[in-house]
Amino acid sequence: NFTPNAFVEEVVAEMKAKIGNDKVVLGLSGGVDSTVAAVLLNKAIGENLYCIFVNNGLLRKNEFQNVLNQYKGMGLNVKGVDASARFLDALAGLDDPEAKRKAIGKAFIEVFDDEAHQLTDVKWLGQGTIYPDVIESVSATGGPSATIKSHHNVGGLPDFMKLQVVEPLRMLFKDEVRRVGRSLGIDEELLGRHPFPGPGLAIRILGDITAEKVAILQEVDAVFINGLKEHGLYDKVWQAGAILLPVNSVGVMGDERTYEKVVALRAVESTDGMTADWVHLPYEFLMKISNEIINNVRGVNRVVYDISSKPPATIEWE
Ligand code: XMP
Repeated sequence: NFTPNAFVEEVVAEMKAKIGNDKVVLGLSGGVDSTVAAVLLNKAIGENLYCIFVNNGLLRKNEFQNVLNQYKGMGLNVKGVDASARFLDALAGLDDPEAKRKAIGKAFIEVFDDEAHQLTDVKWLGQGTIYPDVIESVSATGGPSATIKSHHNVGGLPDFMKLQVVEPLRMLFKDEVRRVGRSLGIDEELLGRHPFPGPGLAIRILGDITAEKVAILQEVDAVFINGLKEHGLYDKVWQAGAILLPVNSVGVMGDERTYEKVVALRAVESTDGMTADWVHLPYEFLMKISNEIINNVRGVNRVVYDISSKPPATIEWE
């Protein structure tokens, strides 16, 4: 029987003993796991925990600033690093999904390594690894950190990966992480956030990425997600988002013919992301969101709803 309070007490004591007066660096993603791991480490070692939150420019609208403020409000010692331009450069001209993922993974590692180098005497790398990640990486490559390593298999490991690893959540399942987060007083809204992929909007913009496309998709996505929240639908959906398609379609506005972008909306029910069903969102809701997008987001004149389940259609379009 898992009791969050007892877990917190135990793991904090354990980390205090293990880490002592050493410094720890940890990358925050805005997700539940890294946040809970950071709050636990902060409880154990305070200012000796150095958190880094990178803006890859592919997050949701206003997300970087909002989440960074939330982190600061929690008392975390966090540095926000806006590396949007660097990621956009790394993505320039790429349209293959795997090439985009690789470029983003590589850029992240470079940015994080640069930041880690600015801290002196760091001995540990904190990570929000949870039990299912441990199983996955052990079976895939025989060791932890496999997900990061797979992005960086050229020219040896960056220095931060040679640090000793501390993973306070490595024995927990997702629901237990949420319960621990709750007992630590972390905001319910943060704990209940939909999953969001590491490569962010880059894998929801089909084809090549430009700053303009990112801006359009951020607006569309914000209309959809805010609408779900306002209509009490957000918590009934496991994951939702918008996809910018690489096609234009004809429309009319006043007396003018338009030839603009098409966006798809996707909302799924799932328990682990391995299988998923599309959600039967109310027609009235979809109508309202579609109108709001077309009336307010310049450059988009058509909205479609994705009615495909996984398998075979993956949750992300890329
Ligand atoms: P798919 O598209 O494979 O997605 O059905 C299943 C879940 O995984 C997320 N996803 C990713 N997460 N890096 C991530 O961190 C990725 O490259 C990636 N691709 C998919 C997706 O958002 C969904 O929750």
